[in-house]
Formats: sequence, structure tokens, C-alpha cells
Amino acid sequence: MGTVTYKHQPGIEATKGNVPLAGTAHIYTVGKVLWPEEIETFLRTLFIGRTLHACCGKSALGDVRLDADPANAPDIVGDAADMRATVPDASFETVLCDPPYNGKMQWNHDLLRELIRVASRRVIFQHWFLPARRDGGYKKAHDTWKLTGCYLWQPRTYFGRVQVVSVFDCIANATITGGSPVHGLVGGTEQED
Ligand SMILES: C[S@@+](CC[C@H](N)C(=O)[O-])C[C@H]1O[C@@H](n2cnc3c(N)ncnc32)[C@H](O)[C@@H]1O
Repeated sequence: MGTVTYKHQPGIEATKGNVPLAGTAHIYTVGKVLWPEEIETFLRTLFIGRTLHACCGKSALGDVRLDADPANAPDIVGDAADMRATVPDASFETVLCDPPYNGKMQWNHDLLRELIRVASRRVIFQHWFLPARRDGGYKKAHDTWKLTGCYLWQPRTYFGRVQVVSVFDCIANATITGGSPVHGLVGGTEQED
């Protein structure tokens, strides 16, 4: 008997609780801000300088908000995995991104690459995976971007996936503030970038 609703995540509601894994063929949308207020307050403490919020949903965080869904009233409507037409290289000191989790592999790769293209100092990324190598290097630029912080939080829903907020800093440009370095990541085998 179905007792749970996902009314603020219509894509999941439509599939009766199955996380849609069909890639980005259909857009994952949100009906309200999903982050609890205390998470937004915490994320704000991680921002350095001008901040782009990619895949912003209805969250008001960030100086410039970008989302594929015009219903979220973003400053820029577009695909976060290809922002070349609207967001120049290194044009924001910080980029925050909590993407849809149904992205196809290639979309995820393209997204990760775009985040460090447009950021000059810091990327804050939320997902259930950590886009880092075991030495802390960012999968797309392991020599120049390093994991400097990693935080977990637990949604209030039963069996809600733990959310991993990872913070990467460009070691070429950044004065690293906030976050504790994470060393000695365990488990898994290293994959090609
Ligand atoms: C997980 S939600 C973000 C939720 C937000 N962090 C919050 O707490 O409310 C992901 C967002 O990405 C947007 N989105 C989906 N596909 C996208 C794409 N290709 N490019 C940019 N945004 C996209 C959705 O519209 C949705 O608002």
C-alpha cells in the first residue's frame, strides 16, 4: 500500500517513488526548495566572492541562479552541462550545484567539467557520489582542484539518501577557507577520469 508521497519532486511522484533513471530526456523538476533552512544557512558560509548557483531549483542562494526549468525563475535558463553560451570561463569565484540525480553518465561528466570551467576558486557539489580521486583531486582536474571539505546531512524522510556536500578549491588561485581537508578516502577502485 502506497503511503508515501513525493509531491515536491513531481518526477519521482509520477513514477510512484522510483527515482527516474532515464537520463535527462525528461527534466527532473522541483515544486519547492528541498534544502532545509539550516542546510542553506550552512552552505552560505562556504561561499567565497561572487557565486553562481547551477541547478538552483527554487533556492534563492547565489548571486546568479541557473536552471533548466523556467518555472524556477532563474537568472539564466539553460543546461548546466553546457553553459558556454551564457557563462564565461572563470567568471564566478564560487559555483554551487545540486544537480538532478538522473543524469546520464556523459551528462554528469560534462557537468563536472563545466563547473570548474566557470569557477575560479571553489566548487560546492551535492550528490550521492564524491567526484574525487582517493588523493582528493577533482576527477576532471586532479592536479589543480582539490577536495578541501566534505559534509554529510540526512534528509528527514525515512530511507532518504544521505546527501554528500563536497567542496573543491582551485589550488592555483585559492586561499583555502572553511572545510576540513579529507584524507585517506577508503574503498572502491580508481577509475579513469
Ligand atoms: C535536485 S534539484 C535542486 C534542488 C535544490 N538544491 C533545493 O534544495 O531546492 C535539481 C534542479 O536541477 C534542475 N535541472 C534539471 N536538469 C537540468 C539541467 N540539464 N540543467 C540545469 N538545471 C537542471 C531542475 O529543474 C531542478 O531545479
